[in-house]
Amino acid sequence: MKELSLHILDIVQNSLAAKADRVEIVINEDRIGDLLEIRVKDNGKGMTEEELAKVVDPFYTTRSTRKVGLGIPLFKANAEACNGRFFIKSEIGKGTEVYASFQHSHIDRVPLGDIIGTVISIIAVNPQLRLILDYQLDGHKIIFDTEQIKEVLEDVPINNPLVLDWVKKFLTENFPNPNS
Ligand SMILES: Nc1ncnc2c1ncn2[C@@H]1O[C@H](COP(=O)(O)OP(=O)(O)O)[C@@H](O)[C@H]1O
Ligand SMILES: [Mg+2]
Repeated sequence: MKELSLHILDIVQNSLAAKADRVEIVINEDRIGDLLEIRVKDNGKGMTEEELAKVVDPFYTTRSTRKVGLGIPLFKANAEACNGRFFIKSEIGKGTEVYASFQHSHIDRVPLGDIIGTVISIIAVNPQLRLILDYQLDGHKIIFDTEQIKEVLEDVPINNPLVLDWVKKFLTENFPNPNS
């Protein structure tokens, strides 16, 4: 995929399909350590060991009768092509964590892309979801949590267009600046 944010969107869609009502996206960009890490943690239904094995290996899955997509194998291949690592931890009834890392400066490493737009579009379609974004750039951190916004909003839905505009502005202004 052309942007890592599209992989993140795909992974979050999996969490939603697994009935998660809490999703945490943790991104660590460390240009000094030449590392980019992405973690998506959910409290969805989780996977068995056997399901997990099928999910990370697309050739294994073609032999199963169940339809399985390529979202996870593509993300894994992308990370590993950039000197990175990839793993999934999952527990039935508890949730799933997907981890991918990349050599930040790797020539094949695609840009992070529009993380703010991705977060906004997830909230717009899933107002009931607790979405947490924890983004760190060279040690400068922003943590955004829909729960905090909802406390202030009281009866106004978080996917009200005016609220989404405000959230977008807030995130844009508070995102760590890559040039400072
Ligand atoms: N967070 C998750 N929680 C539970 N099951 C998951 C999760 N992510 C992936 N899966 C399982 O792995 C399968 C493969 O995921 P993916 O590679 O993204 O393809 P697709 O979403 O098209 O099925 C999903 O269909 C689902 O059964
Ligand atoms: Mg998927």
